[in-house]
Amino acid sequence: MKEDLNKILLTQEIIDKRVQELGSKIDLHYRDKEIVIITLLDGAIVFTADLIRNLAIPLRLDCLRVSSYGNSTDPETAPRILSSLKSDVKGKHVLLVDDILDTGNTLQSVHNEVSSKLPASVHSCVFLDKPDRRENGFKADWSGFSIPDEFVVGYGLDYAGKYRQLPYVGTLKPSVYNNDHLT
Ligand code: IMP
Ligand code: MG
Repeated sequence: MKEDLNKILLTQEIIDKRVQELGSKIDLHYRDKEIVIITLLDGAIVFTADLIRNLAIPLRLDCLRVSSYGNSTDPETAPRILSSLKSDVKGKHVLLVDDILDTGNTLQSVHNEVSSKLPASVHSCVFLDKPDRRENGFKADWSGFSIPDEFVVGYGLDYAGKYRQLPYVGTLKPSVYNNDHLT
């Protein structure tokens, strides 16, 4: 698994420190208000697990399964919301959590969907941001790291379903993509 990586962009130590900082900023923003975190499956699962353990405010957790990538590194179609929320977010403070803000289409469509349910507020927190790829001007309220336009894996992010368990973030060797038909 590690041998498939070209370079490591973010180490485990750097990620841990930044997630702690994000937790403090989010705590400060909401003070003691209760929030509903909506985490976007599958990619945001690792980030969310770490983030919530760095939050002191009361929170509830809900998940949405969203799919925008097939087995490729390019968006195949418009994002699809594949599940529904278990909680009623009307009048609640909602925090959307995703692994990476790329074109912005996923978070924009989830933001629209959640806003239509009349929450008290909707904010968003992403682990990574690729601002160069944005198609719609969507801005996250909190972002862990801004990265260049490179496909990355690890810390929840996958390529064709793999590499999510890596505790750091890196890019893949070109041979991984070229040999994909062999695996
Ligand atoms: P967006 O709708 O283009 O903003 O895409 C967001 C989704 O695309 C993320 O939640 C990821 O699942 C996926 N994605 C975008 N860039 C990468 C990447 O570099 N590695 C892995 N997944 C990515
Ligand atoms: Mg995703």
